[in-house]
Amino acid sequence: MSDNKRIALAFSGGLDTTVCVPLLKEEYGYDEVIGVTVDVGQPEEEFAEAEETAEALNLEHYVVDAKDEFADLCFDAVRANASYQGYPLGTALARPVIATAILEVAQEQGCTGLAHGCTGKGNDQLRFEAVWRDSDMEVIAPVRELGLTREFEQEYADERDLPVEGGDEGKYSIDTNLWSRSIEGSELEEPSYVPPEDIYEWTTAPTGETLEIEVGFENGYPVSLDTGEQSSPSNRNAKRSDDGDEMEPVALIEELNDLAGGFGVGRSDIMEDRMLGLKVRENYEHPAATVLLNAHQALEDLVLTKEERSFKKQIDHEWSEKGYEGLVNAPLVGALEGFIEETQTRVTGTVTIRFEGGQARPVGRDSKYAVYSADAASFNTEDVTGDIEQGDATGVAKYHGFQERLANRVISSQNDEE
Ligand code: ARG
Repeated sequence: MSDNKRIALAFSGGLDTTVCVPLLKEEYGYDEVIGVTVDVGQPEEEFAEAEETAEALNLEHYVVDAKDEFADLCFDAVRANASYQGYPLGTALARPVIATAILEVAQEQGCTGLAHGCTGKGNDQLRFEAVWRDSDMEVIAPVRELGLTREFEQEYADERDLPVEGGDEGKYSIDTNLWSRSIEGSELEEPSYVPPEDIYEWTTAPTGETLEIEVGFENGYPVSLDTGEQSSPSNRNAKRSDDGDEMEPVALIEELNDLAGGFGVGRSDIMEDRMLGLKVRENYEHPAATVLLNAHQALEDLVLTKEERSFKKQIDHEWSEKGYEGLVNAPLVGALEGFIEETQTRVTGTVTIRFEGGQARPVGRDSKYAVYSADAASFNTEDVTGDIEQGDATGVAKYHGFQERLANRVISSQNDEE
């Protein structure tokens, strides 16, 4: 390897990362820039765009497939019922996976620096750098550090004849991976603006049709789908699994995105509090995430005790916060996962989900670990689990609310005296 100073850039082929290539040489003194695109399930066109732009820039370009690692992390998120303010965390979970893959390429390729094209307003800069600053590489964020605007970038690119198709990036900023598609920017920033139907690509408007599917779980991980004979009304993609068969995480997520998206499942329009404190309007599509999170929760509701369910909410909340922050490698997350693992040994079984009116609603659940006794819960039989009978509740009923009754009596007698 030469003595040239080399830097690895997180590269998408969009305007931000394209202008970063000459800037890293001109402004930061690097001799060579390598571009790294990490596959976390973006659509094909994005790789084609990255390849083409890299070629036109004469950029040494690497593509790393991290779909499996990413899908595994998404399934850890399912076990934690992970959601941040209604967002199932696609972009947030992808960033540490992408950052780690880029760091590995940088090390293999003799780089001494790492760069990304994130702005200084978003979360992604923090998520990338949380991983990168753990290495001895120099970390550079040209867009943030040079205070670049989109207008400046466009002019800069025009002046230098950089391969950016002027204004062809569409008016929205879109980030897509296996778990979610986020749509930001332009009029959507205004919280009162009602988004037009054409911002959605993964989901149709809910149709009148319904479909029931069965999702199988083992130890809290989604492992199989039974989609029956019917298929998505839009049926954009004809591939189908063998029903009820075990599926690999990536394939399972892809199939569910396609199927549930056709029933309008998994849209969210939320106000999101970013890490730096900005409150922003966000739109997302995440059909598979919605189905798997709803199904997983329904199975936990069946197999966990009341105390476990209520305590796990706090664990899940903490996991989701760290997930949003891009800190899934934090010791806290390891500790939370110790609790999660202990509970998930019973989260094995199946859940029937009905797609209806844009919702994915659990309508049936089954597990050999169900904390459920038909005899105990039924109104039809007298003797319950063998050693409890109806009359036993009389004593409990006498005590129930004792303290509240007493307190209210004391309060009203004091009020009378005044
Ligand atoms: N607000 C979401 C998040 O912070 C989505 C960010 C989308 N990122 C992007 N570069 N467009 O996770």
